[in-house]
Amino acid sequence: MGVYILEKLVITGQTPLKGEVVISGAKNAAVAILPATLLINGTCTIENLPNISDVKLYCDILSQLGVKIDWISEHEIKVDSRNINSHIAPLDVTRKFRASYYLIGALLGRCRKAQVGIPGGCNLGNRPIDQHIKGFEALGANVEVLQGNITATAKNLQGTSIYMDVVSVGATMNIMLASVLAEGTTIIDNAAKEPHIVDLANFLNTMGADIRGAGTDVIKIRGVKELTGNATYSIVPDQIEAGTFMLAALASKGDIVVKNCITKHLESIIAKIEEIGGNVDANGDHLRVWYSKPLTKANVKTLPYPGFPTDLQPQMGVVLAQAKGTSIINESIWESRFQYTDELRKMGANITAQGKTAIFEGVEQLSAAPVSASDLRAGAALIIAGISAKGKTEIYNLNHIDRGYENIEEKFRKLGAKIERVSE
Ligand code: EPZ
Repeated sequence: MGVYILEKLVITGQTPLKGEVVISGAKNAAVAILPATLLINGTCTIENLPNISDVKLYCDILSQLGVKIDWISEHEIKVDSRNINSHIAPLDVTRKFRASYYLIGALLGRCRKAQVGIPGGCNLGNRPIDQHIKGFEALGANVEVLQGNITATAKNLQGTSIYMDVVSVGATMNIMLASVLAEGTTIIDNAAKEPHIVDLANFLNTMGADIRGAGTDVIKIRGVKELTGNATYSIVPDQIEAGTFMLAALASKGDIVVKNCITKHLESIIAKIEEIGGNVDANGDHLRVWYSKPLTKANVKTLPYPGFPTDLQPQMGVVLAQAKGTSIINESIWESRFQYTDELRKMGANITAQGKTAIFEGVEQLSAAPVSASDLRAGAALIIAGISAKGKTEIYNLNHIDRGYENIEEKFRKLGAKIERVSE
């Protein structure tokens, strides 16, 4: 009989965060850059990889496809993709892992065929991949979705113009992956502009691709014969992790310095923090954020970059749940990203959520309760809630949090939070 170990975070709240935190490499850049190594007929070194379970999972998948990965340190790998031996990704793993969709673009680009377990819906609601498929088909691939698998094959990939019907991070990056080794030029119009899109383009260009315009809404990819690699690339700092710590500092009435971030990527968060009465002093690669007076209400609408990111919406929700007045959050990206509000209500928050809108009547103080993380960012939000609440909060379902935040409790502990991981 197996032994079932249940892990939880136990947080004793009401400690203002103080000190410095160093931000890790971006998860959502790493999970695209790792499959992008499949396109390289050579070796490369990747630095500033976040030490998170999603990265380990991706490295395992790549190894199963014949990629040789050597860990140089906790955050650095050397990758040799010269001898890929399969275009079929481990189907059961890829089905459960959302970012596995990048394997389709990367394998299609390199091998002209790909088979991946189709990433299902998830607890953010419906997550279609029709724009990815539209892009592959426009490049000349034949795409079939059968029995939970997606198969893409192409005799030839031919560059073309593709207009995205919705601004999609994943589809923009996947089409980029499928087209770097295509013949001719591909133009992606109405492309997403997130920092990780630019990071993937920079990585591919460093390895020998010819991509221009990443970070604008028109990206032009001139196909090249081969990516030769033999270069080193360092992953961009994670703007969502940085924003998470900024909002935690504010909710805890603290004063912290966030190091190794790109403050330009944080403009929408800085603006919202200042609007509600928080303070930010930004200096290029670091910033100070501090609380000096009671925070006030605000309305927030999540939007593609450079708008307010959906991946910081739950963390912002915790701050607004304790800000004076009535705040409204409109979630315009995901159907179902207010599940964390059920947990916050257990902690005394006064929130009404319906569909894509939630109304927050600010309360003075949250109080501890046992709560459960429904997804990665909901988990981060509950940690922030626990740090600012009165009493001992217990957070369950930590696997979500470990997918995307490196050493989260250690980083918070260094800032003075009373947070422990306990196994039962
Ligand atoms: C990425 O997901 C991130 N994941 C998400 O972060 C993030 O919330 C999201 O972008 C938005 O910023 C990764 O990078 C691995 P989209 P992605 O395609 O690429 C619709 C986190 O917590 N759409 O930009 O899957 C879609 O339904 C995660 O780190 C289509 O209609 O998001 C959504 O409404 C959660 N058809 C909108 O576009 C498609 O083919 C944006 O989705 C694709 C998307």
